[in-house]
Amino acid sequence: MPHEIAVIPGDGIGQEVTPAAVDVLEALNVGFEFVYGEAGDETEAKMGVALPEKTRELADGADATLFGAAGETAADVILPLRSIVGAFANVRPARTYPGLDAVQPGTDLVFIRENTEGVYAGIENEITDGVRTLTRVVTEDACEQIAEYGFEYARQSGFDDVTIAHKANVMRETDGLFLEVARGVGDDRGAEYETALMDALAMHLVAHPEDYGVVICPNLAGDVLSDLAAGLVGGLGLLPSANVGEENALFEPVHGSAPDIAGEGIANPAAMILSAGMLLDHLGYTGEAARVRNAVESVLAEGPHTPDLGGNASTQDVTEAIVDRLE
Ligand code: NAI
Ligand code: MG
Repeated sequence: MPHEIAVIPGDGIGQEVTPAAVDVLEALNVGFEFVYGEAGDETEAKMGVALPEKTRELADGADATLFGAAGETAADVILPLRSIVGAFANVRPARTYPGLDAVQPGTDLVFIRENTEGVYAGIENEITDGVRTLTRVVTEDACEQIAEYGFEYARQSGFDDVTIAHKANVMRETDGLFLEVARGVGDDRGAEYETALMDALAMHLVAHPEDYGVVICPNLAGDVLSDLAAGLVGGLGLLPSANVGEENALFEPVHGSAPDIAGEGIANPAAMILSAGMLLDHLGYTGEAARVRNAVESVLAEGPHTPDLGGNASTQDVTEAIVDRLE
């Protein structure tokens, strides 16, 4: 049986970079069957709902999902999609590439972000006029699952440095539990790791990203720190991500729908194509995944480049160059 891949391009440049990633996957001839779903602002305008039931079913039933980006409805689309695939881990690699300008050339980091709870649990209230609260949820099970995933990811990917990010000096109960459980997982595995207060970590990441490898984070910290790392390595057009569950997974670029350049055909497809590379790895096509990474690296080093990287090539020019170098 061929693997079934749900493809949800979404809005804006999602419509431009998602076909680019499908072109690359098709050129590899692994025999994927692609099924297409609608979601996002345009879908909401047309159907009254940003994530139709049919699209939910596609993501639920597929072996993996490729998602482009949504616009203003992003939270109504991507949060439920992550939950439909049961994603407990958000994997966000941020690395520099030879030949490209970067604030910090020596960066090679992977954020392993808890993806289900913390301050993103969605429990907010208006207590009275002018007073609102948010409930932060941290469970032992989710902490253990993300820590196990993070340490195992570091072991399999050959990273020596594992850092547990937290703010347990202030959020003593919730981050206290996150820290305690993650340390326990590291100790049980006999793994080496360090712990870091997330604010100080932000400063050290900017100054010395080379000191870090895998960073295991609570939900909000992982969201913020990984975007900070995007700034260090040359921009959002380069950052892929995976949302991994026990039986299903969703792959998407870190960037959004980029309304400022949408429709011009100049979006950088690298983040989306690298996300498709992570999908290949996840489904066990490790050789093909390496071919995709190498082809992207070669095009990033030698061009053609889209305008965000200082070039004047189109999305299609870059995609064709990557397909040409898939050897
Ligand atoms: P954005 O990531 O869409 O754009 C930020 C900046 O980076 C823009 O200047 C854009 O042109 C540039 N950029 C992003 N990806 C690029 C690429 N592949 N090639 C070249 N340049 C690229 O974030 P922004 O502007 O904050 O949000 C725009 C819309 O996207 C909003 O409606 C927001 O809700 C949505 N969004 C959706 C996400 C998702 O679907 N997962 C994630 C983030 C934002
Ligand atoms: Mg974000």
